[in-house]
Amino acid sequence: MSTLVMRRPDDWHLHLRDGASLEAVLPFSAARFARAIVMPNLAPPVTSTEAALAYRGRILAALPPGARFEPLMTLYLTDATPAAEIERARASGCVLGCKLYPAGATTHSEAGVTEVRRIDPVLARMAELGMVLEVHGEVTDPQVDVFEREARFIDAVLAPLAERHPRLRIVLEHITTRAALDFVLAARDGIAATVTAHHLLMNRNALFAGGLRPHHFCRPVLQAEADRAALMEAVAGGSPRLFLGTDSAPHARAAKETACGCAGIFSAHAGIELYAEAFELAGALGRLEAFASAHGADFYGLPRSGATLTLVREPWEVPARYAFGRDELVPLRAGGRIAWRLAC
Ligand code: NCD
Ligand code: ZN
Repeated sequence: MSTLVMRRPDDWHLHLRDGASLEAVLPFSAARFARAIVMPNLAPPVTSTEAALAYRGRILAALPPGARFEPLMTLYLTDATPAAEIERARASGCVLGCKLYPAGATTHSEAGVTEVRRIDPVLARMAELGMVLEVHGEVTDPQVDVFEREARFIDAVLAPLAERHPRLRIVLEHITTRAALDFVLAARDGIAATVTAHHLLMNRNALFAGGLRPHHFCRPVLQAEADRAALMEAVAGGSPRLFLGTDSAPHARAAKETACGCAGIFSAHAGIELYAEAFELAGALGRLEAFASAHGADFYGLPRSGATLTLVREPWEVPARYAFGRDELVPLRAGGRIAWRLAC
């Protein structure tokens, strides 16, 4: 039985939801990660520093006794976000970045930005104050093929934005394509990306394996095998511009198993274990720690976490369901096995 002892990882892209849902999913992340960048796409969205600090308080209050987990907060940008809000966010010391959701791109993005040039003054202020812009990188034009929306977004929106704001620090979230890799790895300084475990381990065939698989549906959608393989090769290569962001996005089972199901894959129950599996498959287990516990902290200008985490190479069976407030949710790999488990 092999054991992997590593610096405690951080999750640089996480959906914790709120209320009873928050209480249900938070323990999974807190058991594995030292910190997480918490996404602001609640309903209503977290658009002010005041709301972000209140949400942070609810997360801290929901932590299991003895847990050591630090939520790092983000603001949800809208067409109407005032530059003064960025100053308040910065001054709070608890808000690290702002999330750009193109309006309509994904779950709870309706209040997002309709035309990115409208927020140029806000982006300029963020660059001055050293706030990170976290980007959901998909165009929303329904005419654009769903598998091409990331590449189109990079060309039409992100590359020009990065040029207009040469000092703005940008994380392109949950990248899925060769095109995104090419952009991030060749970009100017201050541009990085998060990569999910599901985009490393699955391609779009997983959406249709034996029938329609709603629990494999997320935004951006799983991509072709060539893209998955390129992501694996890139993370295995150890670029400091790539780091862990689970994008664990829980939804009630009924909201996924329906005629028009929600986007989002829940993976926090195995938030580091699935990456261990991916890095092992890539023959790069030795690179997992830097990807999971160093590159993100370095990019955000935070100290690397102090504690350690131990994984054991011992397969375990994932439950078919977990409780989710008054509902239940179906985790990634439900009923299947995961090669690594957390040591108790
Ligand atoms: C996320 C969610 O459910 O909040 N869904 C998803 O498919 N990833 C939103 C997001 O990150 O796009
Ligand atoms: Zn997300």
